[in-house]
Amino acid sequence: MSELFISKDLIHLRNKRVSYLMHILPGGIPIHLYYGKRLEAMEPRSLLRHHAIPDDGTFSVQGCSLDHVPSEYPSFGLGDLRQGALTVRRGDGTASCDLRFVSAEIDTEKLPLKGLPSTHANGEQTLRLILKDELLGLTAVLRYSLFDDCDAIARSVELINDGQDTLSVERAMSLCLSLPTRSYDILTLAGAWSREREMFRRPMTMGECSVGSIKGASSLHTSPFVAMMTPETNEHLGEVYGFALVYSGNFYAGAQVDPHRTPQVMIGIHPDGFGWTLEPGESFQTPEAIAVYSDQGLNGMSAQFHTLCAKHVVRGKFADQPRPILLNNWEATYFNFNHERLVDLAKTAARVGVELFVLDDGWFGKRDDDTTSLGDWFVDTNKLPNGLTPLANDVHALGMKFGLWFEPEMISPKSKLYEAHPDWALHIDGRTPIEARNQLTLDLSREDVCEHVYHAVADILAANPIDYVKWDMNRHFSNIGSSSLPAHRQRELPHRYMLGLYSVLERLIADFPDVLFESCSSGGGRFDLGMLNYMPQTWCSDNTDAYSRCRIQYSTSLVFPSFAIGSHVSAVPNHQTGRITPLSTRGNIARSGCFGYELDLNSLTEEELAEISQQIKDVKAIRETLLYGRFYRLLSPYEGNDTAWLTVAQDGSEAVFTYERALAQSYTNPPVVRLCGLEADAAYRVEETGEIYGGDQLMYSGISVPLKWGDHSSASFLLRKI
Ligand code: GLA
Repeated sequence: MSELFISKDLIHLRNKRVSYLMHILPGGIPIHLYYGKRLEAMEPRSLLRHHAIPDDGTFSVQGCSLDHVPSEYPSFGLGDLRQGALTVRRGDGTASCDLRFVSAEIDTEKLPLKGLPSTHANGEQTLRLILKDELLGLTAVLRYSLFDDCDAIARSVELINDGQDTLSVERAMSLCLSLPTRSYDILTLAGAWSREREMFRRPMTMGECSVGSIKGASSLHTSPFVAMMTPETNEHLGEVYGFALVYSGNFYAGAQVDPHRTPQVMIGIHPDGFGWTLEPGESFQTPEAIAVYSDQGLNGMSAQFHTLCAKHVVRGKFADQPRPILLNNWEATYFNFNHERLVDLAKTAARVGVELFVLDDGWFGKRDDDTTSLGDWFVDTNKLPNGLTPLANDVHALGMKFGLWFEPEMISPKSKLYEAHPDWALHIDGRTPIEARNQLTLDLSREDVCEHVYHAVADILAANPIDYVKWDMNRHFSNIGSSSLPAHRQRELPHRYMLGLYSVLERLIADFPDVLFESCSSGGGRFDLGMLNYMPQTWCSDNTDAYSRCRIQYSTSLVFPSFAIGSHVSAVPNHQTGRITPLSTRGNIARSGCFGYELDLNSLTEEELAEISQQIKDVKAIRETLLYGRFYRLLSPYEGNDTAWLTVAQDGSEAVFTYERALAQSYTNPPVVRLCGLEADAAYRVEETGEIYGGDQLMYSGISVPLKWGDHSSASFLLRKI
């Protein structure tokens, strides 16, 4: 069990492996003391010496220079001249905040954050650090929960106006953490549509380095994640601090190195375009942030995140279940389908062993392309004259589940819904709304719109036998205005949108617990711990090219476990890159996530169908390991020509090794890859070849990988412990 120790001025949270320590300075300012490997002493007072900063009278409060100390939650406007975590303006227009310690209290259970996604605990306690600015009448409640089974701390902040004045919150980070003063590299994930989450690592120097989104979603372009690591850190060795936000909207994630060379990491809602009015008696809850620590390199960091996702983020009956192998008709038919064509596809899918048939975009309104009908969630009877239920029944009769695509947060200007409710779209009076993919965003800050969106989906789920929903979101925000908010609350709109969305999702998953939800946003544009709290899997990228997927899945795995990563085999030439890769490689890469197909099976040869059939049979036999095993990145496509990773079953009984070589090389020895995470003194049989290796040989000497001729050759081995 994690432990929580509170003395009068020292607080120590720890589990079996890590410690987190804070100190309350004599003036009542809480500062950070330590986060790292577990310290045995409960009250290691020697650490206080690290922060015995000479008081030279500069920005000094009660003998403490605010600009030096590693505050747990620094605020703007007084003596700390760094970028603060909190900016609050009061009625007279001035901004300053001075939070002082009131008390430290323990909740024996971790409660969900109201209206927001949050991690759930398994008996772990929560520390509430209560701070107060008497002048503003502002109370801040800093919450900390350290998990037992992973070295992650969940933090969040609640701001309560218990004074008389109206307050305006302009910046409220979820977490601020000062790291020990030494050199760090910073790692961020950034990209674009079809090349999401590329890895960027650079040395941290003086100043700020950050990623963020002000697009209304965590976005295709950046991920709410940042890691700080010592320069020598690699996948297997070295100290790493990883941070992620349990949130899907605008965010900031970054670090600044202050003039005293101390890095401070912050993560939270992006302050640009954000503001929140707190009337007396009102409160504001930040999203939850996660900090993880590992001294075993980036793989060690990922292991913490993966356990967190598995045990504390995903919920519902699918959280630890084998995910169905699906066929999605999008790249098979796009908008061009009817009942017969879908059933023909479904028949072949059933024949090769597919378990879930998903009908993607184009089944509703008059949607023959992407120019119309979002919002008109009634069946297009030209394509499906009998409606959805007969189609679902036909699919069920073939022994498969039936799934359906929605994009419920959107509205096409060409739709009946827009004709009836133009004010339901985000808009700014007097300005022509800017369309993206010919669509506008519904204003989910409005309760009536949320009610409508809930029913648009729920009524269809209630009326038809639907087992799976792909929840898409295909544009970012512009014209950010709401007709339902007063002028002084318009800056609340992006966050209120998220609260509205989360309320709809919370209702839907509660009302339809048997439906498997997969999140999507033009591919992986909203791949974050927030969405994962409602939907246990996310479509990782619209880019289904196997080589592109090596890169995308490699970097996605930094934070997200395989069971969260939707990955499909598609046709060649690939629709996004034009690249031709072997079917075996497409299968090997895709099966490292929630496996499926997204191509016209009826255009394949019998040989290809037989290969697919075998792929599906193989995956079914090792699905538990592939989805829920311990994942190790071995060779990075960001550093060379080869990609390799390994998934080891939780009980250690088997492991699946995956390798891809991008460009073939002539006249070379077969690659040899050193594995990890195995038992050194156990023996393993490679099922494909019958060879027996010692775990020590596999880890210390490596496994040699025979490759076929041609680019994008790959191999995947099942290693069984014998
Ligand atoms: C987005 C999704 C795709 C597909 C299309 C349909 O781009 O990411 O998978 O569903 O929408 O329009």
